[in-house]
Amino acid sequence: MKNPGNPRTAPAADPPAPLPGSTTLFTLDPGTAHLNHGSYGAVPVPVQRRQAELRAALERDPDGFFQDAPDRIARARAEIAAALGGHPDRLALTTNVTEAVAVALDSVPLGAREQVLVTDHGYGAVTRACERRAAEAGAVVRRVRISPHAPDEDAVAERVLAAVTPHTRIAVLDLVSSPTARAVATPALLAALRERGVTTVVDAAHAPGALPVDLGGAAGGADFWAGNLHKWAFAPRAAAVLAVDRPWRPEVRPLTLSWEHDRGFPRRVEWRGTFDYTPWLAAPAGLALIHRIGADRLRDHNDRLAAHGQRLLVERAGLRALPALPGLGMRAVRLPPGTAEQEHAAKALMTAVHRILDTRVAVRPWPGGGILRISAQLYNRPEEYRRLADGLARLLTR
Ligand SMILES: Cc1ncc(COP(=O)(O)O)c(C=O)c1O
Repeated sequence: MKNPGNPRTAPAADPPAPLPGSTTLFTLDPGTAHLNHGSYGAVPVPVQRRQAELRAALERDPDGFFQDAPDRIARARAEIAAALGGHPDRLALTTNVTEAVAVALDSVPLGAREQVLVTDHGYGAVTRACERRAAEAGAVVRRVRISPHAPDEDAVAERVLAAVTPHTRIAVLDLVSSPTARAVATPALLAALRERGVTTVVDAAHAPGALPVDLGGAAGGADFWAGNLHKWAFAPRAAAVLAVDRPWRPEVRPLTLSWEHDRGFPRRVEWRGTFDYTPWLAAPAGLALIHRIGADRLRDHNDRLAAHGQRLLVERAGLRALPALPGLGMRAVRLPPGTAEQEHAAKALMTAVHRILDTRVAVRPWPGGGILRISAQLYNRPEEYRRLADGLARLLTR
């Protein structure tokens, strides 16, 4: 996962050929260009069907379904763990990364005046969870500022490590950041933090299905590693995993106490009484689909299409490319100074892009010019990015 020194836009001249079946696998509104897979995913038809079957079985016999559910969840977890190179006893299923990070933060002791380290590329809700946890403990959150144009992962790591002090207790870092789609929590940075005695929580919301994941051994080199299955792994919403390194497993504090509590990790984290467990039970169908398509082939398609989209935004809309993470189906560009610098303006631009260009993208505010992120998935086509680039060129000069 090495970032190149310069934004990786070169392959864009050559968008990938569509993969077979790509138009029939989804039920997305064909009138809209959905260039924001990274936010909410899109559930393929076979996975929707699997979940519908599970819900029908539940409604035929609610008692039987819930009595068997803990063991069925354990079997689904084993399949999910195998696909992520992990072990079923070392990860728990959760509803999403927001929840998984909250569980992790709640499980690590934090003392008065200790520090929780985050970056300004972190996901808002996750940073808020850090702030609440820190406030309750009398600790502080240290927010490391990293230029969106920082050339590579070494530059990012340098900034993070420079902020570590003897008081730094926890670091919550993105494997792939939400606004900027870049790597922060690289294996080298995690190892350096571990050496300094810092407990690491990795927000890997975008990793499963999007990047090669190997949770073998520990939790991806971190103490806690949280990844969504409902973004790039084609699972129904809400499905995610929380992988936990060995010393922490007995310490994990579920947000909800349940009948499974005495069975320890991971069951005590998973069971939350009467709840819709069908996303977890259907998640293996999403992973099986990726396997059938070919994980490498899918990633290559998405990477090349996203790079192509970024190049069009540079060439046709005059926007500046941000450094990219090779192999990922997301890219980001910087908007001009004065555009989308505040939350309301970023939201207004997203709305305008949808209303005027029939296109869904993610826009996040950033001082000095907001950031627009595009995604690429099986169902996207090069012409959708061209429409966005040409439309943005007009919109931004209005
Ligand atoms: C980096 C990152 N972390 C966390 C989340 C939150 O994911 P969820 O809403 O599934 O909890 C997102 C969602 O976009 C994200 O991009």
